[in-house]
Amino acid sequence: MTAISRRSFMEMAVALGATAAWGDLFATPSKTSWKERRDLFQEGVASGDPESDSVLLWTRRAPSGSASAEKLTVEIAEDKSFQRVVATAAAPISEASDWTCRVLVGGLKPAHVYWYRFTDHQGNGSRIGRTITAPADDDARPVRFAFISCQNANYGAQNAYRRMIFEDERAAEQDRLGFVLHLGDFIYELVWYPEDRPQGMYDRRIRDIVRYPHGEKHEDFHIPTVLDDYRAIYRAYLHDPDLQDARAHFPFVCMWDNHEFSWLGWQSLQKFEGVTRPAQTRKVAANQAFFEYQPGRLFKPSGPSLNQFDPPQVQDAPVTRFDEHGLGQEPNNLTAIASLRGYRAMRWGRNVELIITDQRSYRSEDPTGGPEASAFSSPDFPAFFPEEAQEILDAGSACNGGNPPASIRFGSEELANFRKDQPPQTILGAEQKAWFLERLRQSKATWKIWGNTTGTLDFRADPQNLPPGITKPWPGAGYAGFGGGDHGSAYVERGEIYDFVRNHGITGFATVAGDRHSFWAGLAANFLPPRPFEPVGIAFVTGSISAPGLVESFEHNFPKDHPLRSLFVGQGPSDKGPQPTMNMLLRHGVKSCLEYAKSGDISKARALSNPNLSPHLSFVDMGGHGYSVVKATSNSFETEFVCIPRPLERSERPDGGPLLYRARYRAALWSKGQSPKLEGQIIEGDPRFSI
Ligand SMILES: [Fe+2]
Repeated sequence: MTAISRRSFMEMAVALGATAAWGDLFATPSKTSWKERRDLFQEGVASGDPESDSVLLWTRRAPSGSASAEKLTVEIAEDKSFQRVVATAAAPISEASDWTCRVLVGGLKPAHVYWYRFTDHQGNGSRIGRTITAPADDDARPVRFAFISCQNANYGAQNAYRRMIFEDERAAEQDRLGFVLHLGDFIYELVWYPEDRPQGMYDRRIRDIVRYPHGEKHEDFHIPTVLDDYRAIYRAYLHDPDLQDARAHFPFVCMWDNHEFSWLGWQSLQKFEGVTRPAQTRKVAANQAFFEYQPGRLFKPSGPSLNQFDPPQVQDAPVTRFDEHGLGQEPNNLTAIASLRGYRAMRWGRNVELIITDQRSYRSEDPTGGPEASAFSSPDFPAFFPEEAQEILDAGSACNGGNPPASIRFGSEELANFRKDQPPQTILGAEQKAWFLERLRQSKATWKIWGNTTGTLDFRADPQNLPPGITKPWPGAGYAGFGGGDHGSAYVERGEIYDFVRNHGITGFATVAGDRHSFWAGLAANFLPPRPFEPVGIAFVTGSISAPGLVESFEHNFPKDHPLRSLFVGQGPSDKGPQPTMNMLLRHGVKSCLEYAKSGDISKARALSNPNLSPHLSFVDMGGHGYSVVKATSNSFETEFVCIPRPLERSERPDGGPLLYRARYRAALWSKGQSPKLEGQIIEGDPRFSI
């Protein structure tokens, strides 16, 4: 490392207010008398947001006495036994940051594995962590990483992490993961205490993981209200042994989704019992806890310190005025959502630029989430929402070239178009969207990977093709969606992004997403038939680590005698229990599901596939859990779904338990003007309803 790069690193560290350590060219044996005491570092260690020459390191050391501040020593070495230590630094911890510690280490070698640990002044040490720097910008080696989301420690086990570590430790050097991208719901802020649900959640046992000191009870669950509550839930999650092992084993890149703040939260608003209310103080508290517990390169205008968050003062004031992008203009709202900026871009060699966006802090209200939208759903057609209504409500005043209809027909009724005077839905918000598009345009990487915490692929079924006599006629005009919330039905904004990709000749556009608690592989396109289907990229969604998916919920809650049960959790004549036929509904349509219920013959069922329903989908599993692995090379992009059984309890096996299936979807890099194509291969198991 040159003196200049060292100086510029130190300047950057000062600008970030980080405790900085600088990697030395000459490694020396550790001079610290480290003795591992995991009981004193109960939340383990972590590393985050690696670049080719630097990485953030993290730990938490609970206070050892009455002092309000202490210092730890951090060491980073080229070997696990710390004989080749390249950097040592003092790292302050204090009550103000809940005793968490973030250190930026620079002067490191690219694409290099390092080991790190923290020691207090008495020689009590953290466990040893492992981290990996990114390859240099001109390095053409393939990049491998896992993308994951939605872990629920309240009523699930994190076996997926054990499987991930197990496979990684046994993989050939070039096949090991470079990092783990966590796309949110790292915590679920909504917690059930065991006594609230003695019957459990579905077939799951409620664990007593946290008691909020200042929690608020809604129905039978509890939510955090202040900073200490948000800190408590992060600590509770980090006591999960498998999650903690994963954080010590891989560098993480983390982005929040909704549950890091609030279940139905958007901007700094919450919604409970159908009532939207201001929650600026909670949004700031959620951001502060995220900042303290997730080592990432996040921007906060409240001050440059990485050691402390310095929260801005806000009040919970009603948000009533929204600008032309749906952004609430109330000053406390603007301050709260600006208190931490999570969207960011990172580079891994020549082949990967990861562009991560925030889907919650700047978005407008979900047009299908309010009470006015409930008129478009009907108990005769559970979960369905007419696709044409989704489109009209999404577009608002921009519908039909600025001439939105005053009403929308639904069966025999004309329902008011309550969105006709409101701006089109945005999920990114104007400012973030401009940044996102500019990053896409400027990227020189082979693969421009959009880390979108929420899904982008259309979610639809064809109830218009139900034969007469089964139930009432479908009141919609054509296809059914499943309501809104993500880019799968934010048609206007998605169209803007995809048109930009096409118009700028951007190739290698790939999206990785979470939130849906289901595995999806497909193509990114503005429209589906009967409109022209013209893909501009590839898109994937990962199954949850452990949170329940729709199939699990339907297995327990879908009425047993409902005439449409076979579309969701159907059963063939020789099946002993409900099957995830909802996957077939999304891939092939109603006729395939009805045939399966009649004959139990999957090939006969697939033969009745509706070819216009889902040309965008190659795979969908609404019941799958596990993780997804990307391999991005200079000419191809591959995503592997690693699916495990429903993680009701922690597996005692070293591999985290058996696999249900392993499926791989691959696209060759396409040229400007060409359309991407996806090819699939089932490597293990038989996800028969998903393909
Ligand atoms: Fe989730």
